[in-house]
Amino acid sequence: MTSTDPTPAVAVPHPVRAIRTYHPRRGRMSGRQVTALEQHWPRYGLRVADADPFDPVGLFGRRAPLVVEIGSGMGDTTAEMAAADPDRDYLAVEVHTPGIANLLDLIHLRDLGNVRIVEGDAMELLDLLPPASLDAVHVFFPDPWPKSRHHKRRLIQPAHVARLRSRLAVGGTLHCATDWAEYAESMRATLDADPGLVNAHDGYAPRPAYRPVTRFERRALRAGRPIADLIYRRHR
Ligand SMILES: C[S@@+](CC[C@H](N)C(=O)[O-])C[C@H]1O[C@@H](n2cnc3c(N)ncnc32)[C@H](O)[C@@H]1O
Repeated sequence: MTSTDPTPAVAVPHPVRAIRTYHPRRGRMSGRQVTALEQHWPRYGLRVADADPFDPVGLFGRRAPLVVEIGSGMGDTTAEMAAADPDRDYLAVEVHTPGIANLLDLIHLRDLGNVRIVEGDAMELLDLLPPASLDAVHVFFPDPWPKSRHHKRRLIQPAHVARLRSRLAVGGTLHCATDWAEYAESMRATLDADPGLVNAHDGYAPRPAYRPVTRFERRALRAGRPIADLIYRRHR
């Protein structure tokens, strides 16, 4: 290499960019959501980086079994389930600001002391949580990424599942639901193949009464898409 040759002698590795499981998307917020974000974010919201180091007692004011919900959307399910389950704490993770704002509003309206919302990529959050620290992980209606070339963006794929499972305590559950038949089958194959998970049911789970029916689910049912629940337990 001469002094004028711009080619470096040693190849400089490119930083690896993780493949995202979501579309970065904008969304209009209602006045109510804007107000909720302004007023309630300081008390109930945090960014992924704020979870490092992870301090559940600082966050919730107690140590209780912890549920992480990945992709909480508008937060209706989180709020409903957390209200019915006051002995566990719920950490919702979402990237979509109107959904975060909506959940903040619900937390405030229902005075839910056991819910916090993390803004950011759930995969980054998982890396900050201690191994075997979760009682449950919920993944309800994750984006199906139907085109084959987009399957690498799916949340339920072997590498992500191994990461999720490593954060579950032994005996903890991973509960997924989808209205996309082909994704349901792929989820089942992926979860069956994970060496640390065991299906808590024989095949798909019967619809659990504790998972509320959301607007999203009603729309799927109206369109003739049946819902599949998958509930797996970490066994080792
Ligand atoms: C189809 S929506 C379903 C929302 C909600 N669970 C429901 O049942 O209505 C999927 C949500 O997952 C969120 N999401 C996808 N990947 C995510 C990630 N890595 N971290 C946080 N949120 C994610 C998206 O922003 C989107 O709001």
